This record gives sequence, structure tokens and C-alpha cells, in this order.
Amino acid sequence: MKDFIATSLYGLEEVLADELISLGAGSVRAHNRAVSFSGDKKMLYRANYHLHTALRVLKPLRAFPVKNEQDIYQGIRTIEWERIMDQDSRLAVETVLVSGRYKHSGFISQKVKDGIVDRFRDRTGKRPSVDLKDPDVRIHIHLGDTHCNVSLDSSGESLHKRGYRTQGYIAPLNEVLAAGLIKLSGWEPGLPFVNPMCGSGTLAIEAGIMARGLPGGYFRTRFGFQTWKDYEPDLFESVRKERFLKEYKDAQIKACDLAFPAIRVAQQNLARAGLLEKVDLVKTSFESWNLSSRQGVIIMNPPYGERMVEADLQELYKSIGDTLKKNFAGYQAWIFSGNPGAMKSVGLRTSRKLTLYNGPIKCKYHQYNLYDGSMKNIPHHDMV
Ligand SMILES: C[S@@+](CC[C@H](N)C(=O)[O-])C[C@H]1O[C@@H](n2cnc3c(N)ncnc32)[C@H](O)[C@@H]1O
Repeated sequence: MKDFIATSLYGLEEVLADELISLGAGSVRAHNRAVSFSGDKKMLYRANYHLHTALRVLKPLRAFPVKNEQDIYQGIRTIEWERIMDQDSRLAVETVLVSGRYKHSGFISQKVKDGIVDRFRDRTGKRPSVDLKDPDVRIHIHLGDTHCNVSLDSSGESLHKRGYRTQGYIAPLNEVLAAGLIKLSGWEPGLPFVNPMCGSGTLAIEAGIMARGLPGGYFRTRFGFQTWKDYEPDLFESVRKERFLKEYKDAQIKACDLAFPAIRVAQQNLARAGLLEKVDLVKTSFESWNLSSRQGVIIMNPPYGERMVEADLQELYKSIGDTLKKNFAGYQAWIFSGNPGAMKSVGLRTSRKLTLYNGPIKCKYHQYNLYDGSMKNIPHHDMV
């Protein structure tokens, strides 16, 4: 059994921990933007292939105390890299600084690379090369004030690169964030999933992948561990055949956007994910969208405002609130937005408020219970 770390986005730690437990991982513990777990090599492959809410899966190699850059270099040199790679391997180093002491991650990565390369040169006269785009081995450094943690990145390219999206429309969501928003909403594919203002369709596609019971990495063609010395293709093949989610053949997934270019991009992405038949995609404004279902989970990610004046934005969010109240009684609605001020204009009582990040932008994720009949949601335009 080895210990591993799956990294994620702020606010998704608990849903990632739940996913890991359902894959059979041991000792699952949530940390800040990461979840540690234990398992064998099969579990490492499984985590990469099956998780929906992880960005990377790291295999910790060594942690050692450091006081300065020279300690980092020396510590790196003592690791038996020849067990991990050959002198003709291509490597890349990524450094995450979690202290104020070290200022330049690029400089630390350079020191780490020097430590590895010098160890090989001393032993064999040859040295591995650096290839930041397409390395055989990715090394992940997590550097605090006093400690250097060295891991191997088993994922390669970040796991949000699912392989179905080659195009985004305006401000497409990170796929891992979209999957996390869906899991946080508590949606199960037995209920309709409704995604107004779908843009390039990320939320609808991630919901469709879950409804088909597919792994998060189903459309990816490569993972970092496949170029490791200890790669076992047969083991990975057996992991590819596993399924941990139930397939809902009749799941209802509906998406709309008023912009034709968004619909076109969403269609292309849906097609690449094999979901064109599964997702009902309509070019219409949310305000005039008529759905036959009377209940379900709505998740929407309206424009934040970089391209809109404040008054228009407030008007848009007010009309979202009015439309939810008028046309979607009986649904659970969630709005994800990077503009907390505009969120106030929705004017509906929130039943849950979460904070997440979209890249560097602090975002709010609010839930609204749109009660049917006598339990009407009371307009409350001044609420936060
Ligand atoms: C922030 S983008 C959504 C991005 C999306 N989550 C993705 O991953 O690509 C907002 C979208 O809302 C659409 N939109 C704005 N107002 C709308 C309205 N009233 N009805 C329908 N769509 C609208 C825009 O065309 C845009 O595609």
C-alpha cells in the first residue's frame, strides 16, 4: 500500500473524498485543495481514470527539511532517480510555493532539475533532458518554509483536460469545477438536469458523462503513469473496464443558450463526448424556455460582467430570479457566479451558500429551493 494525493480546487475536497471512497481507496482524508488516500498501483490508475473532481494524482516520493536552495538541490540528489527514469528520459518539474521564503518557482524547478541531472551525469556520464510539453516523468515539488515535498505526477496533463473539448465559447468552466458543481448540488441522474446559459456546454456534458456512468477520464488518450518504468498496461486495461457508476439510459439533460455561436460550440463538444443524442440542446433565452418537466436540478453559470455594464448585469440577474420563480417552481436551482453583487439581484431566498474559485476569481455558488404551490419562494430582493 502506498499513500497518494489527489489535488483539486478549493471547495471540492469533500466531493473528491466521497469519490475516492466509492472507488475503494483507503485512509481517505480531505486537506486544503487535496485529498490523501492509500492504495496499490491499481488504485493509482483507477483514481486517474475514474475520478471526476481531481486535477492530478501525485505519488509522494520523499519529504525533507530545507533551509535554502542548496538544501533542495542536495536533497533531490539523494533520491534514487535511476529507479524511476533512464538517462534518456525527458523530464519536467513543476514547483508550487506555499511559503513567502522562496519567490521564484521557476528557479526552484531549475535547482531540482540540476539535482537530478547531476546525479545521472556522475553515475552514467549521460543526462536526462528537459521537455516541458511532453515529458516521460513529471516531478511535482511542494515547497514550504521548512520542508520540500517531492512527488511524481501520475496524471500528466491536468485531469480537467478530458479530451472532449477542443473549443470553448466565452469563459468556459474548468471541467473539474463543472463536475464538482454538479456533485455539490446533489443531483442524481434520476432527476432532470437543466443547464440554462450553457455556453460551450461544460456542465451539460459533465452531467451527461455521469448519467452514462462513465469515468471522468473516459475520453483521455494518455496519462502520465503510462510512460513510467513500472507501467503495467494489462493492469490499466482492467481498470478501463471497471465501472463504478450506474448508467441511467433515460436521464433527461437539457441545456439552452441564446447565442448561436455558443450552441454551435456546445454541439461540437457534445458530439465529441458522444452525447449529442443524450442532451436536449436548444437555442433560446432562458426567459422564454419552456420545459415539460416540473422538477429537477438547475445549474447555471450566467455572465459575470467583464463584458457587461453593471446596470445590465443587475437586470440580467433580476430576470434570472423572476424566471426561476415564475417558470421553475418545484425545481432546485443553483447559480454559480463570480459577481456576488449581481447575485443579490436574483432576489430569491438562498438555502445554501458556498464559496469556490474559478481560477483566481472568488465565486459564489447559491442554492434556491423553488417551492411549488403554497410554499412559494418569497421575493427578497435585498438578501445577500
Ligand atoms: C459564462 S457563460 C457560460 C459558460 C459555460 N458554463 C461553459 O462552461 O462554457 C454565460 C452564457 O450565458 C449566455 N446567456 C446570457 N444571457 C442569456 C439568456 N438570457 N438566456 C440564455 N443564455 C444567456 C451567454 O450566451 C453565454 O454563453
